[in-house]
Amino acid sequence: MLIKTPRQFSIIAAFVLTLISVVIIELTLFVSDVVVNQRYIMIMFIIMLVLVYLVIYYLLEKLITQKIRLLYRTIHNYKINRGDFPVKMNEDVLGKTEKEVLAWADNSREEIEKLRLQEEFRREFLGNLSHELKTPIFSIQGYILTLLEGGLEDENINRAFLERASKGVDRVTGIIEDLDLITRIESERLKLNTVPVNILSLAREIVESLEIKAQKRNVKLSLDWKRIGSQEINVLCDRDKIGQVLSNIINNSINYGVENGHTEVRFFDLEDNVLIEVSDDGVGIKEEYLPRLFERFYRVDKSRARNEGGTGLGLAIVKHLVEAHGQTIDVRSTEGQGSTFSFTLKKV
Ligand SMILES: Nc1ncnc2c1ncn2[C@@H]1O[C@H](COP(=O)(O)OP(=O)(O)OP(=O)(O)O)[C@@H](O)[C@H]1O
Ligand SMILES: [Mg+2]
Repeated sequence: MLIKTPRQFSIIAAFVLTLISVVIIELTLFVSDVVVNQRYIMIMFIIMLVLVYLVIYYLLEKLITQKIRLLYRTIHNYKINRGDFPVKMNEDVLGKTEKEVLAWADNSREEIEKLRLQEEFRREFLGNLSHELKTPIFSIQGYILTLLEGGLEDENINRAFLERASKGVDRVTGIIEDLDLITRIESERLKLNTVPVNILSLAREIVESLEIKAQKRNVKLSLDWKRIGSQEINVLCDRDKIGQVLSNIINNSINYGVENGHTEVRFFDLEDNVLIEVSDDGVGIKEEYLPRLFERFYRVDKSRARNEGGTGLGLAIVKHLVEAHGQTIDVRSTEGQGSTFSFTLKKV
């Protein structure tokens, strides 16, 4: 029989001990030729059994309570008073404690892993941030030094250098503003002004504002709302923020597109939502890079992205903004063929 609870243990131990004692007593009596009424022996057996059981039970309870209380105090990190902690002697106390300790160990391991990841993230983030700020700040410093060392009087360069320094300042400001926006969304300090918005006309506005840039790169921008079958589809969103989402994604499709490329914005009517897709036939993204694409400062092709003036914050902002609307964003891409970014918005 498998002994599971302290009570079972007490009963069996008491029974075995009493039986051994009675056998010894019987043998002693037998050897010394003393005859005792077997009924007394029986009564003695029962009394001994009860007493031994009570003593073992009491001692066991005390011992287990003492040891387990200490364990619980450590794993639950709080003080347990005697009264709050009655050991249930008819339960598998040790088995239960073992399970709790194992669960605690698992939990601690997970927490340590989480802290380790956070630490890694913080280190990487600070590294990226200082790296991104260093480039424009050093160039600003260079231009200013040249101006101070006589360039200021040189009509040929003073204006051009000041303009370049000012561009550097714009870049630093842009990075700080992007980070500030992400931080505000993360700490939920960004208030969304959600109103019904005709997403088709918003998308048209954004496409028009990017037309000149697209033409410079010979990229064709188009809208396709035929699947919707209407010129108007209203969604609940913050107009400026979703404008920024569309602008960032379409901007990327121009930056990472190919000459004579084509970017199309499509709309799909889902039951409660509208799915908005921005599809390009540009350079595409290798599958292995997709999971990290929405992380801040993440760029697939660092040199190319930097040439386009990118810091890798655009898609991090996009994801944050879409999620702040309670929606999701996704990306599909095939290297060399193009990419499609899609997100949903709630229909009014
Ligand atoms: N449509 C696309 N086609 C191919 N690669 C893309 C596309 N969109 C984004 N990427 C890749 O994803 C990276 C991250 O994009 P993201 O918009 O976050 O940053 P960025 O464009 O480099 O800089 P920022 O948008 O902050 O100016 C880009 O550097 C680029 O490598
Ligand atoms: Mg971008």
